[in-house]
Amino acid sequence: MQKIIEQIQKLKKERKAIILAHNYQLPEVQDVADYRGDSLELSRIAAKAEAQVIVFCGVHFMAETASILSPEKQVIMPDKNAGCPMANMITASDLRELKNRHPKSVVVAYVNTSAEVKAEVDICCTSTNAAAVVSSFKDAEEIIFVPDKYLADFVSKKTGRRLITWDGYCPTHVKILPEDIIRSIRQHPRAKVIVHPECTPEVIALADEALSTGKTCEYVKKSEAKEFVIGTEVGLVYRLEQDNPGKKFYPASELAVCPNMKRTNLEKVLWSLEEMKDEVRVPDEIGKKAKKAIEAMLSIA
Ligand code: 13P
Ligand code: SF4
Repeated sequence: MQKIIEQIQKLKKERKAIILAHNYQLPEVQDVADYRGDSLELSRIAAKAEAQVIVFCGVHFMAETASILSPEKQVIMPDKNAGCPMANMITASDLRELKNRHPKSVVVAYVNTSAEVKAEVDICCTSTNAAAVVSSFKDAEEIIFVPDKYLADFVSKKTGRRLITWDGYCPTHVKILPEDIIRSIRQHPRAKVIVHPECTPEVIALADEALSTGKTCEYVKKSEAKEFVIGTEVGLVYRLEQDNPGKKFYPASELAVCPNMKRTNLEKVLWSLEEMKDEVRVPDEIGKKAKKAIEAMLSIA
């Protein structure tokens, strides 16, 4: 493995590239990355980066977002088949039909959507800023929020706004069951329980906090607690352990694995730098419209 890491570092310099890795990536991929983060943090980093080449270790919509924000940069994915099943649960034509039924509504899309869907919406959001985005539309008669019905439910409870939703969900987060949380609390009575807002409402109701992966990192760092039950994709536990020596982390369910996040490995990172592949690009027209929606989100604190 050491040889591969050295090769990656060498090629990265030659190509003037940076490596971004989502918090769910394999430990060895997180270790080789220049930056780790959640969806919002990575899109901000991608937008500001001076490097001309971005190796994106995550899933397709994340690399696509980076490319939309910086079309002049070369965004490459070590495995372009790493998609997000939730993002595939709604198409642009599905959304157009929904908009036709609610012509006066403001349209919010979770970043876990395709560029074509983003091109149809007023604003994007991530799980970090979803409530702030929805709250920013004080005078909106109706708000469409797609595609995650569970994130929509969470945001609706937080903001008191009724949302028109879609039947999307994350197949990984629904694997975390209320009984997993109940058992974890019994086994670790002193632990704080943090789950992701993509979890079901029943799971969220049992937790102390529902936070994005980036906000979970912040919360854990500041917290006086020494033990945490983590109800999200298991990859986040590696980052939390690294950043917080002395604190203990227990995954709520070992089954919460996103197979797409695990498609990227070091061999593929090296291959992508050698071949400068697979490039992610969005057609200009779609990209321009999607960019407006992403930038609208980025302008909200
Ligand atoms: P975060 O923005 O919290 O990292 O979430 C991304 C994601 O895909 C969660 O499943
Ligand atoms: Fe998509 Fe869920 Fe995987 Fe996140 S964890 S990338 S929402 S399938």
